[in-house]
Amino acid sequence: MPKLIASGLSSMEFTQHLESGKDPLAVPGGAGSGTKLAAGNLEASVKLSFSNLTAHVGIPNGGKKVIMDGITGSAHTRQVMAVMGATGCGKTTFLSALGNRLDPSVAVSDSSQISYGGQAWSPALKRRVGFIEQDDVTFPHLTVRQALTFAARLRLSGTDEQRAQRVEELIGQMKLEKCADALIGGGMLRGVSGGERKRVCIATELISKPTFLFCDEPTSGLDSETALVIIEVLQELTCDAGMCIICSIHQPSSQVYAQFDDLCFLDGGRCVYFGKAGETAISFFSAATKSVCPAKYNPPDWFMEQAVRGNLAGIKMDVEITSNFHVGSFEAQDRGFAVPFGEQVAVIFARSWEKTKVQKLTTPFYLQNIIIGLVMGTLFIGLGDDESDIFPRVSVAFNFLMGAIYLPIMEVLFVFVEDSSTLRKDLLVKAHHPFAYFVARTLSVAPVLGVLLMLMKVSTYILTFYKYGSFEQFFTFLAAQFLVGSIFGSLGICVAAFVQNPAYLMTTTMILFVWLISFSGFFVPTSSIMPALRWMVAINPASYGFALFFQVILKVGVAPSFSCDELSSFKTCDAVNSNGKITPDDVLEHYSMDTPIETCFAALLGMFAFCFAIGYYCFKQKVAKWLQ
Ligand SMILES: Nc1ncnc2c1ncn2[C@@H]1O[C@H](COP(=O)(O)OP(=O)(O)OP(=O)(O)O)[C@@H](O)[C@H]1O
Ligand SMILES: [Mg+2]
Repeated sequence: MPKLIASGLSSMEFTQHLESGKDPLAVPGGAGSGTKLAAGNLEASVKLSFSNLTAHVGIPNGGKKVIMDGITGSAHTRQVMAVMGATGCGKTTFLSALGNRLDPSVAVSDSSQISYGGQAWSPALKRRVGFIEQDDVTFPHLTVRQALTFAARLRLSGTDEQRAQRVEELIGQMKLEKCADALIGGGMLRGVSGGERKRVCIATELISKPTFLFCDEPTSGLDSETALVIIEVLQELTCDAGMCIICSIHQPSSQVYAQFDDLCFLDGGRCVYFGKAGETAISFFSAATKSVCPAKYNPPDWFMEQAVRGNLAGIKMDVEITSNFHVGSFEAQDRGFAVPFGEQVAVIFARSWEKTKVQKLTTPFYLQNIIIGLVMGTLFIGLGDDESDIFPRVSVAFNFLMGAIYLPIMEVLFVFVEDSSTLRKDLLVKAHHPFAYFVARTLSVAPVLGVLLMLMKVSTYILTFYKYGSFEQFFTFLAAQFLVGSIFGSLGICVAAFVQNPAYLMTTTMILFVWLISFSGFFVPTSSIMPALRWMVAINPASYGFALFFQVILKVGVAPSFSCDELSSFKTCDAVNSNGKITPDDVLEHYSMDTPIETCFAALLGMFAFCFAIGYYCFKQKVAKWLQ
């Protein structure tokens, strides 16, 4: 069998198959560019070995598409390896496999093996492995310094001073000084430039000084100078921090390419070339394609040209690691989290609060809620004491209920969709416990409820009850509004966690809304609902919320009585029994709303706890794939 021996990798035997039938050519070993470790020292470094990485995905016609085809090789700490190849050749898939982040839809063959300095993958490695995704994953609503500080507070143990020092060190290293206090931005929010944002993502991953760092196209979209700065920083890190870095890269400039020690070139999921990045690679591609890299060409451009023109079709370098696959005594010591649970909750809450402040607690939102509240309130100005004024009071209670259902549920419904990429990133590097996130996110709804819902409903309350209200009633109303809002916030989180496919979130919520409202007791009193369906009212939090608001309006701190209409529908107004007045208890009985106020509070608290527990259970299922 023809053999290709690559210099500097003495523990490997490279076997090249030219499956296209082209003559295999032995390529003389040459010094790779930028190698910082002599061949003899490679064994002393921590080694990442991967063998026969093979994976496929299902395709619509029921077949399989191979997206990784037996990739074998190794990388070392204090070396930077480039992964190149045309778009769709499998670079992201390869890096994801190394970083244990493959999508569950990708089926990896059982023969695939990866050794991280002598260890198979285990959750203990999570904090030793960093991954910079192809698409930037960061927090648009934070400034560069805030984002790094929050990451340091979650990922680093030690004092605040030590963390702040690490943050400043990274800001300097990544040359982010000029934009350190600018919003990161993204989407509709104007922020730092694309290159700066990419450097923030890299800095975030570097905070905990991982041993293995996988960077998926860290330089795409950047000018060549910025790209060079990034790769130079990574190169420095390999030496200073003893890291093993593997980077996929598109069209590197000659200076950028010169920074790489090794090259893994992929084509259609196959490894076409694996070895030194310098002259060895050029010689290999010349031999394999029977052509010569033109003198004025940048070698990586020429490699890519060969791939895009199909000149590498069928070429597959089978690399056999003949010894020391599990070399090294690397010990991933970080088994727990960097900071205690309470601190994780506090940091995530504070981070979400920054987002809420920028997104929701703004003058347009304040105005919107006050105006909506006032418009609704004007409907009820001038409520009187006649029987005909009872139904408007029922409507006010329903109005309060609607606000407490709609605002909180809509506020939280897309929380996991919005947070999905940052949450995934945090959980994959074990930055915090999933329960810490769940608690913090549930709590983070409170300020929005506290401010927006109150502005709206207090406006309505004041216009409606300026004549009848009392302080006792007002404060009980606030507590009820907050409690009912919280339970529906919790229910919304439960739905958000339960529905796995975001496309069905709105559909599920609309059906839930209709059920909540239909069986709340507003449209049809419970006594008029088919007995077989009354359990729907009993388990419906909206029915307790409605009863609670109704009772607060009629009974807390006030005791209005209403004069009977001539053709009254109230029993108490019958000629025989009538005292000519309808009491609050008569009204509650008439509308089947006589569940005691304490029972309503207790039922709502119980339902809050139930939704919270079920929500967390579903959430845990949802993120289970990121916890392994
Ligand atoms: N989860 C998946 N489901 C279906 N196909 C997938 C999946 N993941 C990867 N693929 C397919 O595998 C191939 C390799 O994808 P990958 O993202 O690894 O390519 P890439 O080299 O990173 O491309 P680019 O340079 O455009 O980022 C592509 O054809 C892609 O469509
Ligand atoms: Mg990619």
